[in-house]
Amino acid sequence: VRALAVRAEISYVMVKPDGVQRGLVGDIISRFERKGFKLVGLKLYQTPKDVAEEHYKELSSKPFYGKLVEYIVSGPVVAMVWEGAGVVASARKIIGATNPLAAEPGTIRGDFAIEVGRNIVHGSDSVENGERETALWFPEGVQSWDQTMTPWLKE
Ligand code: TYD
Ligand code: MG
Repeated sequence: VRALAVRAEISYVMVKPDGVQRGLVGDIISRFERKGFKLVGLKLYQTPKDVAEEHYKELSSKPFYGKLVEYIVSGPVVAMVWEGAGVVASARKIIGATNPLAAEPGTIRGDFAIEVGRNIVHGSDSVENGERETALWFPEGVQSWDQTMTPWLKE
């Protein structure tokens, strides 16, 4: 009997334009790497307005929606997809609370930000949104690669 292949959990994580401009990309990637998640998608990307609007469509009735979309398209973002068991909830913990002043020290927002409208980083809020956002930001698809594939470590 063959076990059914279960699709791994993925989260869409994005360094927003302020995080890119402040030189925080390496630190942010490093936190997910050190935790043990697997990088399966990565690009520096100038977001088209329609993609930003679609990404945040659940917030379209909020008063801050217009400014939020403007901010996301104001400069390049680093779009990423991280894979691993429990990655959606874990990424939210690594990122910290939406309002950086409420975010715990040791989280990305807790360490680096003070304004809710410039909070450095995004992470999907559900497994379903992890899939939806990955399809939106990576229509070309993401890579899958095998962590046991060690030959490239040494000749
Ligand atoms: P939300 O999905 O509630 O937060 P999170 O990013 O933690 O999932 O909101 C999306 C973004 O909208 C949030 O990261 C920053 C912005 N935002 C504001 O600018 N003002 C606000 O009052 C809120 C709640 C969010
Ligand atoms: Mg959200």
